[in-house]
Amino acid sequence: MKLLKTLLVLFITMQVSAQQGGMWIPSLLEGMNEDEMTSLGSKLTAQDIYDVNNSSLKDAIGHFNGGCTTEIISDKGLILTNHHCGFGQIQSHSSLENDYLKDGFWAMNLDEELPNEGLFVEFIVSIEDVTERVFSGVTDGMSEREKQSIIDRNSNSVQQQTKTEAWQNTKIKAFYKGNQYFLFVTERFEDIRLVGAPPSSIGKFGSDTDNWVFPRHTGDFSMFRIYADENNHPAKYSKSNKPYKPKHYLPVSLDGIEEGDFTLVFGFPGRTNEYLPAVAIEHITKEFNPSNIAIREAALKVIDANMKTSDAVRIKYASKQARIANAWKKWIGENQGIEKSNAVANRKAFEAKYTQALKTKGLEAKYGNILPEFDKLYKDFADINIKRRNFIEVFLVTNELMQMTFRAFQMEMATNANTQNFEQAKATLINRLKGIHKNYDVGVDKDVYKAVMPLYTNAVDASIYENTAFTNLESALKLLEGSPKEVIKRLNKDAAYKYAKPLMQAFADKIDAQFQQKNAPITALQKQYMKALMEALPDARYFPDANSTLRVTYGQVKGYSPRDAVYYQPVSYLDGIMEKYIAGDYEFDVPAKLRDLYIAKDFGQYADANGKVPVCFIGTNHTTGGNSGSPAIDAEGNLIGLNFDRVWEGTMSDMNYDPEICRNIMVDLRYVLFIIDKYAGATHLIDEMKLVHPKKK
Ligand code: ARG
Ligand code: GLU
Repeated sequence: MKLLKTLLVLFITMQVSAQQGGMWIPSLLEGMNEDEMTSLGSKLTAQDIYDVNNSSLKDAIGHFNGGCTTEIISDKGLILTNHHCGFGQIQSHSSLENDYLKDGFWAMNLDEELPNEGLFVEFIVSIEDVTERVFSGVTDGMSEREKQSIIDRNSNSVQQQTKTEAWQNTKIKAFYKGNQYFLFVTERFEDIRLVGAPPSSIGKFGSDTDNWVFPRHTGDFSMFRIYADENNHPAKYSKSNKPYKPKHYLPVSLDGIEEGDFTLVFGFPGRTNEYLPAVAIEHITKEFNPSNIAIREAALKVIDANMKTSDAVRIKYASKQARIANAWKKWIGENQGIEKSNAVANRKAFEAKYTQALKTKGLEAKYGNILPEFDKLYKDFADINIKRRNFIEVFLVTNELMQMTFRAFQMEMATNANTQNFEQAKATLINRLKGIHKNYDVGVDKDVYKAVMPLYTNAVDASIYENTAFTNLESALKLLEGSPKEVIKRLNKDAAYKYAKPLMQAFADKIDAQFQQKNAPITALQKQYMKALMEALPDARYFPDANSTLRVTYGQVKGYSPRDAVYYQPVSYLDGIMEKYIAGDYEFDVPAKLRDLYIAKDFGQYADANGKVPVCFIGTNHTTGGNSGSPAIDAEGNLIGLNFDRVWEGTMSDMNYDPEICRNIMVDLRYVLFIIDKYAGATHLIDEMKLVHPKKK
């Protein structure tokens, strides 16, 4: 009997380690997820994580400005997120005299904390399955458009019928490709102040060279504080607001992690595509990604070379370069991972199994046409999908003159539709132009144009740079003076605009329109496929694709082997920072104070049992963009790390999670505390937190 039980446990553990992955809805963890988490070492119940009636972990997790994740770490509304998530705010408070990006920033008391206009943090109050109410009145015979209009109408009325407090909001989101709908009650705080940030040489250490890479040594964190009104409710900025008293905040563990420890990452993943047919993965990795990689590569070659030879260009183009390089590098890793893991062949083998199950279950008539239909639709969709995205890459991502003409084109379109739109559209355009010209170098941009435009069209003419008002802010603003008629007339005489207009017109009238038309049936079929999968293979684990809603993912601290004979240990240390140190380098310089602390071994309570300060660690948690800033939580609900990236070989997890090589990268909380305490001397922030020793009980 005992043997049988051991075997059973062994079997379950094997199965668990073979599967893993998934981004789960926090209100639905009872049963399978709870069991799986327990088998991985968790001591948490589903209710510890999500509870509507009592405080739970979810009350400490916020959506940071709609893009990243943040968590509360004190009873005074102190929150933690990544340095790259707070980058815009840190930058906006910086000047030549007070360069917080370069030197870091630490508010030494509440009065020194800096307000940030427009910044918000949103919390989830409750999550409710409203599928039935949303689908009420929808029947199989209806067209997609009819269905959607009923769904929209029902969603509106569900929201209206939902009782909320005056300071709360509601939203409804589609899950499982539109087969399920959930209602969220939310609270949005709008008085969020900057509390602290390390210098970029810590918060962005390794920059692009180390981006998407392990071993990693980045202290990618920054700190803010949530303020609320006198009733502790969300409010706009006011000097008289008070630090928010949260329903729950995360205690911080000083005991750290070791290989095999349970980890849970709680946050707002943005977008994944885990249920694509093989034909789609093939299209994305063999055709779509390569063409976009090529455009970004051509632009980066120009920008990188100029940044190396000119400090002025380096400063102007740093953040643009980082944005272009981030996805560029991710796509390359994604393609390699798909190739190396035989994802397309594996997906085809899976599809054979699914097709067999359809037969066995008598579902062939109902769903048998889906896969052949995908093949047909993707064949028809591929070219237009590439063309449309290439336009976006050239006109909106890489070439700035084309971006300016595109924004002007939007103004002309809005004005043509109704002259009353003119002033508003012009104001929007002027804002865009000012934003671009803040960091513009016409020489660099012209070379970018010459590099990227041939990848989009044969009609390349760099002489437009000599005869346009847009390469200079003053002349661009001058062009926009006068009545709508005058402005539109003058605009259409501008060389760059004249050149770009037919290309933009073709994009709006043909390319984008065709894309929408060919994409719609694919979206509809994907919804049907999701349903078919769940019916044909009901025992498999299905988690809904990421959609910027709150999710739980869990796994274990674990190293990995990216290629033959290479194994990466799961934890990196301060010693590794010193190994990478290059004096004066813009990616690998190390601040003198940190070097001194290292030499003096002045590590306080933040070193591990071997006297080393851990910096980053990796685990099998299934994360994606949007999980930046998400807490890594231990088996008992304490904060141990801050998620900020994935390993290069595993970025394919957005389409194909593989527990062998997909790893998320987290900064160890002990390194965060070490920097706050020993490097910055902001000990009052440490005193505010609740430090615990869960392993030394
Ligand atoms: N790769 C991470 C993410 O996708 C970090 C990006 C910011 N860091 C950088 N070096 N660009 O957001
Ligand atoms: N750096 C990403 C973010 O900002 C997270 C990395 C990923 O894509 O997993 O959300």
